[in-house]
Amino acid sequence: MTERIVLAYSGGLDTSVAIGWIGEATGAEVIAVAVDVGQGGESLETIRQRALGCGAVEAYVADARDEFANEYAMPTLKANALYQGHYPLVSAISRPVIVKHLVKAAREFGATTVAHGCTGKGNDQVRFEVGIQTLGPDLKCIAPVRDLALTRDKAIAFAEEKGLPIETTKKNPYSIDQNVWGRAVETGYLEDIWNAPTKDIYDYTATPEFPPAPDEVTISFQAGVPVAIDGVKVTPLQAIQELNRRAGAQGVGRIDVVEDRLVGIKSREIYEAPGAMALITAHKHLEDITIEREQARFKATVGQRWSELVYDGQWFSPLKRSLDAFIEDTQQYVSGDIRMVLHGGQAVVNGRRSETSLYDFDLATYDTGDTFDQSMARGFIELWGMSSKVASGRDLRVAGQ
Ligand code: ARG
Repeated sequence: MTERIVLAYSGGLDTSVAIGWIGEATGAEVIAVAVDVGQGGESLETIRQRALGCGAVEAYVADARDEFANEYAMPTLKANALYQGHYPLVSAISRPVIVKHLVKAAREFGATTVAHGCTGKGNDQVRFEVGIQTLGPDLKCIAPVRDLALTRDKAIAFAEEKGLPIETTKKNPYSIDQNVWGRAVETGYLEDIWNAPTKDIYDYTATPEFPPAPDEVTISFQAGVPVAIDGVKVTPLQAIQELNRRAGAQGVGRIDVVEDRLVGIKSREIYEAPGAMALITAHKHLEDITIEREQARFKATVGQRWSELVYDGQWFSPLKRSLDAFIEDTQQYVSGDIRMVLHGGQAVVNGRRSETSLYDFDLATYDTGDTFDQSMARGFIELWGMSSKVASGRDLRVAGQ
């Protein structure tokens, strides 16, 4: 029987050419797998037809938008995940859901190998292949750009020579990856890290310098998950979409960073994640009133480690699973409303309320009605500083010898 390979297919030039390229290089039949994670653009049906037109023997398409929002974006929100303090893991969380579908398709169509369009320099090859190894240990991996010398020039020549139903003239100077959680733009002019991003780079956000009137929004959460916006019930996917629209119109969520890739390279990336950044901001502020201090401090460390694991392609790892359990446990009381103003590139919280809040007005107030006994503070401070005081006494004694 002819060998079969499932290919992660985007509908773009490189993966369209990869169908025939892999076929010629390996003699295998190629099954194209397209997964909708909210990247927008063409319909799955258009993409399916192109895959078949480019020589795929079968096309597997999946609308995974809710799955992505519920099972990948929501855990990211609960973790307040920002890799290196900036990047909300846009591409990093889309790879594991695509991997799930690739493995499912491989089983359905009897494929032995999984192919993807990544280069040998980035994180995404690692995320795909580590994920595949974990969910389908018997499956082999191949990356035509990395392993079969499929360069851009060769891709264009191949598409023209074979008359593939794909545009070869449209030259986008950037490498772009996007989904409902955000958008990542790199390469070209941006590789000079002193160059400011030009306007044409942005798509999810409007210029924050000329914002429309301020937009006040109330986001309601239930156990760490957004459930309503301005009182209207929403699914996680709808919450992200609605905030992409409203925060995006105000230029919220533009990020320009140089980040540390897993392969040891520092790279410049422009991100736009208006919905994700508005949600993370609101969620963090709700945690501030609903999570106990020590748990909150520890959770920040856990969230950072979680972000690194996910960035590094360890979505399906045991440690990530254990950290998920901790994070999930912290979310029990993260319910309530956050009011925030979206304006001029900023999402600023100006009100919060929760039935499960730890904020105690009577303890916090400086007005009459104060229930806090201030006389307790002196003894507390005495004991709190004791060990440092003893140590500094020792330092003086040793210095004087
Ligand atoms: N640097 C980001 C990451 O590794 C985004 C990469 C997305 N790819 C792209 N072609 N822009 O998660």
